[in-house]
Amino acid sequence: MNFRIFESAEELARGAAEAIVRRVEHDGARVISLSGGTTPKPVYRHLSSGELRDRLAEFDIIWVVGDERFVPSRDEASNEKMIRETLFAAGMPPGHHLLSFRTDGVEPEESALLFERDWRELGIRGLDLAVLGVGDDGHTASLFPGVDPGDDERIAREVFVEKLSAWRLTLMPRILRAAEARFFLASGANKREVLGRIERGDDLPAVAVSAGTPSTWWFVDRAARGEVERA
Ligand code: 6PG
Repeated sequence: MNFRIFESAEELARGAAEAIVRRVEHDGARVISLSGGTTPKPVYRHLSSGELRDRLAEFDIIWVVGDERFVPSRDEASNEKMIRETLFAAGMPPGHHLLSFRTDGVEPEESALLFERDWRELGIRGLDLAVLGVGDDGHTASLFPGVDPGDDERIAREVFVEKLSAWRLTLMPRILRAAEARFFLASGANKREVLGRIERGDDLPAVAVSAGTPSTWWFVDRAARGEVERA
């Protein structure tokens, strides 16, 4: 696994933000899927201000919400809401667009179908970069252990996650595997055990999305790699 190890979560956030901008500037990334959760929030805040924002504003970018909790768009659990309040805290640069899952006034299945319609109408042929997190159970996006999203030609799908008793919406594994590059973000001691399982190739969604793919990097801090200095 290609690890980039940072001293702290803050340095990880800065390093990942810079790496995303360089992927845009030097590798032509224009369609970028974004993870939800807490780890990426400081990354998105770095991208929303100062020099990094200015560098990104030079390009047309389609940002894609990689997965969503099926909650009202104003709900604090909404990934779209989190992304709009961090990555776009200072407004969305001209030429940028956010493709998200509609969760108000629709059922989960319709939400996924509407997302696919929008994806196709935008002419998206695939992801240039997938920014992903990983749960301590090995889930990534909203691909959870024991929850089969199917393996047909769908781009995104609704999944009911028993352990959460909740509907989720998620990009399909094949879309994430086909991305030109994947940046996984994992910080904190609570991710140490699952990173070990992923390194061993256990049967986990994060492994299914990343195993054998070129251009996959794991941005981690020392706590997540079990390298915290003994006090
Ligand atoms: C979500 C994310 C999910 C997340 C992991 C890790 O909707 O929650 O897309 O896959 O990346 O749950 O979350 P943390 O970064 O909060 O540990």
